[in-house]
Amino acid sequence: MQTPVTLDALVSLCKRRGFVYQSAEIYGGLNGVYDFGPLGALLKQNIKSAWMSALNSSGRDIVYLDGAILGAQPVWQASGHVTNFNDPMIDCLTCKKRYRADDDNIDTSKPCPHCGNTTWTAVRQFNMMFKTEVGAASDQSSIAYLRPETAQAIFVNFKNVISTTRVKIPFGIAQIGKAFRNEITPKQFLFRMREFEQMEIEWFCKDEYSLADFEVWCQERLAFYASIGITADKIRLRPHVKDELAHYAQRCTDVEYQFPFGWKELEGIAHRGSFDLTQHSTHSGKDLSVFEQESSSSYVPTVVECSVGVDRLFLTLLFDAYHEDIVEGEKRIVLRLHPRIAPVKAAFLPLVKKLSEPMEKLYRQARQAGLSVQYDESGSIGKRYRRQDEIGTPLCITYDFDSENDQSVTIRDRDTTEQKRMPIDQVLPYVTAMMQR
Ligand code: GAP
Repeated sequence: MQTPVTLDALVSLCKRRGFVYQSAEIYGGLNGVYDFGPLGALLKQNIKSAWMSALNSSGRDIVYLDGAILGAQPVWQASGHVTNFNDPMIDCLTCKKRYRADDDNIDTSKPCPHCGNTTWTAVRQFNMMFKTEVGAASDQSSIAYLRPETAQAIFVNFKNVISTTRVKIPFGIAQIGKAFRNEITPKQFLFRMREFEQMEIEWFCKDEYSLADFEVWCQERLAFYASIGITADKIRLRPHVKDELAHYAQRCTDVEYQFPFGWKELEGIAHRGSFDLTQHSTHSGKDLSVFEQESSSSYVPTVVECSVGVDRLFLTLLFDAYHEDIVEGEKRIVLRLHPRIAPVKAAFLPLVKKLSEPMEKLYRQARQAGLSVQYDESGSIGKRYRRQDEIGTPLCITYDFDSENDQSVTIRDRDTTEQKRMPIDQVLPYVTAMMQR
């Protein structure tokens, strides 16, 4: 059975083992902004690779884009973000604490949860985009925004992609990249950040197929989460009710995960209709419709969007993988990450230092084969196993005194802690095969 994990336990593990650090920590930190340490950087990369590989193997036509982070003002005016990308904000006049007015814990007829006074300001709308200026002159034309979603770069490049590739409707444009939101109250660690990364697919299709495609995408996204090992009964689809819909969406279903702080959105799947292409067409004066030979007519495609935060998925995977159990009478923390997601695939551990040479040789061969592996000879073997369990390494390989005679090593499985012997020359193919499971 899984031990309930607290956010504090996870934050502490992330710091202790080099997954995530508070950004600018030595200066007191920047709220809602994080740096990813050596293991975090690897884990993030594995998440992005798994996402892309799921799209590539879907058999659908999907191309990729890497759009700019700085966005011209007209883009965000056309998309509706300048007017609508707001969160309601409220302050306590006594303690000056600021809240989102739609926070479940805030009720203006009740006292401030921080100081206990009922001295609220009026609710104001706060635009969450980070505004900046481009160039030396400072006027209306120099205003730009750090993008709050990656999707708009896809819409404004729609015609470029069509005319420079051979894609035809239906097809998708996918993108991974940074997004920025000046969240009123960043919270729950990587759940709500001010700088984060998104993985988005915009699927362009004919309107008559869009509802069917929407349903197919919902199922494909669930299948993706199963493929990276997320516990089936902790993930679900939840359709939005009408008053929850974003300004661009006709229909939306969230992929939700059961976090320790409740069922929350992991990914948003939205039927955006032809809202974005139509808006950009109107505002730019450029025709963004496609011509269909068969009917000799033009139409603006409908869009189904799947959007998930890399960091939110990172947090989800850690919550899902975190287990505490008892091994040989001692409590251990183990991250049961899927082998494809685990930052380190195998650790090479000589039983004692004087056996280090052959173990190090195998470790170097694994590195040369492109595997993400670690070598560790310091401390007792039990302590070294625990270190690897805590960072989710699926396999530990130990060279011991018998290895000198039988040219075999011991392979220990992270989840079962079972050990088996294997000839040295079979180790690297075994590790590689495990990652493809
Ligand atoms: N293009 C659509 C869009 O951006 P969204 O629901 O606002 O929709 C999509 O965001 C996903 O991005 C969310 O499901 C979540 O995974 C991630 N996300 C959004 N805001 C975030 C934040 N402040 N911190 C971390 N991840 C965030």
